[in-house]
Amino acid sequence: MEYAEGDNKENEGCVNTVEDNFLQPPENPNFNNLPFHLVKMPPIILAIESSCDETSAAVISNGKVLINIVASQNVHHKYGGVVPELASRAHQQQIVAVVDEAMQGARVKNENLDAVAFTRGPGLMGALLVGGSFAKGLALARGIPLIEVNHMQAHILAHFIPSNMNGLSEGVSIPRFPFLCLTVSGGHTQLVVVRDYLEMEIIGQTQDDAAGEAFDKAAKILGLPYPGGPLVDRYASKGDPKKFKFPDTEMPGLDFSFSGIKTAFLYFVRDGKAEDPKFVDLHLNDICASIQHKIVRMLMERLEKASLQTGIREVALAGGVSANSELRKQLVKRGNALGWRTFVPDFQYCTDNAGMIAMAAHFKYLQGQFCDLGIAPVPNLQMNSVHNS
Ligand code: KG4
Ligand code: ZN
Repeated sequence: MEYAEGDNKENEGCVNTVEDNFLQPPENPNFNNLPFHLVKMPPIILAIESSCDETSAAVISNGKVLINIVASQNVHHKYGGVVPELASRAHQQQIVAVVDEAMQGARVKNENLDAVAFTRGPGLMGALLVGGSFAKGLALARGIPLIEVNHMQAHILAHFIPSNMNGLSEGVSIPRFPFLCLTVSGGHTQLVVVRDYLEMEIIGQTQDDAAGEAFDKAAKILGLPYPGGPLVDRYASKGDPKKFKFPDTEMPGLDFSFSGIKTAFLYFVRDGKAEDPKFVDLHLNDICASIQHKIVRMLMERLEKASLQTGIREVALAGGVSANSELRKQLVKRGNALGWRTFVPDFQYCTDNAGMIAMAAHFKYLQGQFCDLGIAPVPNLQMNSVHNS
C-alpha cells in the first residue's frame, strides 16, 4: 500500500492523503450545521474493536481507512463457541501489539492522533472493557477526544469505507439515504432504515437466535468447528439446496425467529444418524446447502417485505453473515427482479473489524459527538441510545 505525504501543517510528520476531500464537512450537505470549533480537520483517528473474539485496530485519516489490523482468537475453536473470559484475556494479550502494528503500518504517531474511538457495545462485557480501557488510557494520556461507537451501527457504516483503502474508486457506488440494511451477525439480526450516517431505526429484529448463530449451531450439530458459518457456506457450494426441506417459522411483522429451525435441524440430523450412522458424512454438502438455502430464504423474505412496506429500494447487507455467498447472490438476484440498487460491503469489512469502527468514529467526529472518560461499556447497547449518548 502506498501513502502520499501530507502537506497539512497540523498533521505534520504523519502521512495523509489531503488531496482527496472525501466527506469533508463544507462539501457535504449533511454536515452543514457542525460545531466546527470542536473539530480539527482533517481528523486522524485510531479505532479499536474488541466486542467479541477479534482484537482489531484501524487508523482512519480524513475518512480513508489507512490500515485495518484484525487478530482472531483461535483459543475458542476447541470449545465450539466463544468463551467470554478467554476472549477477554486474549484481547489483553493482543491489544498492544495490534494497535502498534496499526499505527506503524499507517505511519501515524501517537502525537498525530486527533481522537481515539472504541466499541462501546453491544458485545461481551469483559471483551468490551479491554478495548474501552485502552482507548480511555490513550485519550487521557494524549489529551485527545474519546469517541464511543455502537458496533451494529458501525457494521452498517462499513458501506462508506472507500473500497480501495485509498479513496473511493471510480464507479464504486454507495447507498443513498434512506436505505434499508439487513444486518446479520453472530449476535444480531436486524432490519434497519438508515436515514443518515448516524440516524438509524430498527424496524425488525430476531426474537431469539441470530442468523449467524443459526449457521454456527447447524455447523456444531454437524460436528464442524466454530465459527461454522463460513464452513457451511463452503460445503454448500457443492451441494443441492433443494435436497432436504425444513419447516417454515411463522413470525408477525418484520421480526425473525431462528430457534425453531435450529431445533428442527437438530432432530433432522439425529433421525438421519439413527437410520444411518454415516448420514452426515454421506450428505454433508447437501445438508449444508439445504440449511443455508432455508436461512437465506428466511432473511430474504423479510427483507423483501420491509422494502415493500417502506417503499425503499436501496438495499444493503451488513455484518458477518453478509459474507455468505448465497445471501449475496440472492440479494443481487432478487434485487434485479424487484428494481433495487443493492450493496454489500467488502469481504474484509463484513466480519468484525476496527475499520468500520473507524468509519463510524469519523462521522461522529465531524458532528462533534465525543464522550467523557467516565463512559462505560454496555453489553446490550441499543441502536437508539447511540445518537444522544
Ligand atoms: O459480525 P460478526 O463478525 O460478529 C458479530 O458481531 O457477531 O459475525 C460473525 C458471524 C458468525 O456467526 C459467523 O459464522 C458468520 O458471521 N459468518 C458467516 C459467514 N462468514 C461469517 N455465516 C455464513 N456464511 C459465511 N460465509
Ligand atoms: Zn459484528
